[in-house]
Amino acid sequence: MNPDLRAAPITDTLAPRVRVSSPSPVAVAAPRPLGVHACGIDFRNPIVLASGTAGYGHELSEVIDLDAIGGLSSKAVSVTPRKGAPALRVGEFAGGMINAVGLANPGMHEVRTSHLGYMTQHHAGTRVLINVIGFAINEFAQVIEHLNDLPGHVAYELNVSCPNTKAGGLEFGSDPAALREVVSSARAATQRPLFVKLSPALGSGLVAAAQTAVDAGADALTLVNTMPGLVVDTQTRGTRLGFGSGGVSGPALLPIGVLATWRVSRAMPSVPICGLGGVSSAVDALQYIMAGATLIGVGTASLRDPRAPERIVRDLTRWCNKHGVSDLAEVRGTLQWPQ
Ligand SMILES: Cc1cc2nc3c(=O)[nH]c(=O)nc-3n(C[C@H](O)[C@H](O)[C@H](O)COP(=O)(O)O)c2cc1C
Repeated sequence: MNPDLRAAPITDTLAPRVRVSSPSPVAVAAPRPLGVHACGIDFRNPIVLASGTAGYGHELSEVIDLDAIGGLSSKAVSVTPRKGAPALRVGEFAGGMINAVGLANPGMHEVRTSHLGYMTQHHAGTRVLINVIGFAINEFAQVIEHLNDLPGHVAYELNVSCPNTKAGGLEFGSDPAALREVVSSARAATQRPLFVKLSPALGSGLVAAAQTAVDAGADALTLVNTMPGLVVDTQTRGTRLGFGSGGVSGPALLPIGVLATWRVSRAMPSVPICGLGGVSSAVDALQYIMAGATLIGVGTASLRDPRAPERIVRDLTRWCNKHGVSDLAEVRGTLQWPQ
């Protein structure tokens, strides 16, 4: 089980995870036409499990067929272990989910020794991005330097957009000077591609932040992280979450993430985007692709239904076959904006 959720009391309306028949240890060939290429990396399909909702892979091996998806972004990794935010850490509302897990993770030493080998050994064809978090500017590069000689991961994803911490997180992504320093120091620490994950709370400043990240050495962008939000418990007149506010994910985030993807892809058409926020069907994924995304993250939907990522892959293949699409690149960025 996802360590976030093991540590966090889950509201009982979240559907339980189900077992799938034992996944094949052999990577399956890319089912055409879904194979995509981003930053020099081949993904068998564009579906990537979103950071924080997939642990480090091994936690999901019995509930998701990890050979059916394109990739996985790990739970955040920080220099030192983090206990994270107090309970409750997750809650539901009509538009999706709100969480303040607080980037709980065992820290880079433990992640290196106990967590990162699994995907390489068992699901070598599924691409692993390591999600990195820092609470001081130099900590992003420190984590990367500690993990960079390990095989099996194809890229880093810098989380400069977490709304649920008292320091670091969103404040790096919203301050151009700090963002530039975080990305350029990470760039100096690795030759692997760097994805920079930005917040939808940047609003009209998002394109400028994306440009800053790319100018500082980012190869790709992940759009978007959760949106800051608040759910009030009207019985207690307190906050639903132990941290107070949290990050909104799930269906309410879909149009926000699609707009962010569209705006950034228009401004920087050659920069690959992993679009995420609220994807729970192939049609949702297609919205992101038409808006310009190359990869598609799936988070909350797979917490509700662990079969969702595989179903999205299947339905995307069907959609392409039905519409005579032999390569998703034919669909990418084809959104027609009203004149
Ligand atoms: C429980 C939970 C934990 C998360 N932890 C992280 C994290 O560690 N690092 C990160 O970059 N994003 C984290 N996120 C954000 C997701 O990766 C994703 O950006 C967001 O949930 C929107 O996608 P979704 O609507 O498909 O869930 C987390 C989200 C959830 C729901």
